Amino acid sequence: MRGVEQVPWLYDAGLALLERTGLARWRSWLARGTSCGRVLDLGCGTGRNLPLFSSGVSAAGIDPCFAALRKARRRAPGVAFVQARAEELPFRDGAFDTVVSGLAFCSVGDVPRGLAEVRRVLNAGGVLRMLEHVRSKGRMSAWLQDRAQPAWTWFTGGCRPNRDTEAAVAAAGFKIDGATYRARGGMRRFEARPDRVQGFREHGSREFGARARMPP
Ligand SMILES: C[S@@+](CC[C@H](N)C(=O)[O-])C[C@H]1O[C@@H](n2cnc3c(N)ncnc32)[C@H](O)[C@@H]1O
Repeated sequence: MRGVEQVPWLYDAGLALLERTGLARWRSWLARGTSCGRVLDLGCGTGRNLPLFSSGVSAAGIDPCFAALRKARRRAPGVAFVQARAEELPFRDGAFDTVVSGLAFCSVGDVPRGLAEVRRVLNAGGVLRMLEHVRSKGRMSAWLQDRAQPAWTWFTGGCRPNRDTEAAVAAAGFKIDGATYRARGGMRRFEARPDRVQGFREHGSREFGARARMPP
């Protein structure tokens, strides 16, 4: 499916406008919380989070859209990029200290599978930081989102405006940290941690154990 998300200049123009309405501060929160260690920007798109990461982090970005990754690489040349989907992350278990998802899980095809993969690649003590727009709590606006969803998904190239991502995160076995939780309209930002430990392993390589690399 090809829509705005797959056309980097158009996506960036739209996001530049949105960021003037307050999204920039939330994006800054999302990225600046990654103060050290290995960080995965899941669904990194054109890489708008990446220049905001602290200099101490070792970052990787994944996205299925090759054109977006090319733009991201120009924005953040020091980052390792892999063309991949959340549902099948080409990294070994426990490879990351932090996974960042900025407006990405609205576009992931299989959310439970994507979140299970996030759990797998987070190490013990690892954290998922999310900035997402979610399904409205109001019945009328949720109904409107449901009606608009097919056209919106087509226009954007995959985004679903009516996703209850918070519920999906909880169902995937993450505990949302109330101290970090903020809601404004349909926007949410928070940190979440796996609430059940499941066979993590320790790893040391800087290459995150990626099985597939982005083509040159
Ligand atoms: C709204 S954009 C967000 C891009 C970027 N994170 C940002 O904050 O600007 C959603 C991104 O999710 C990506 N995406 C779509 N399906 C995905 C999947 N299954 N796994 C990972 N990313 C996906 C899209 O290609 C797109 O770049």
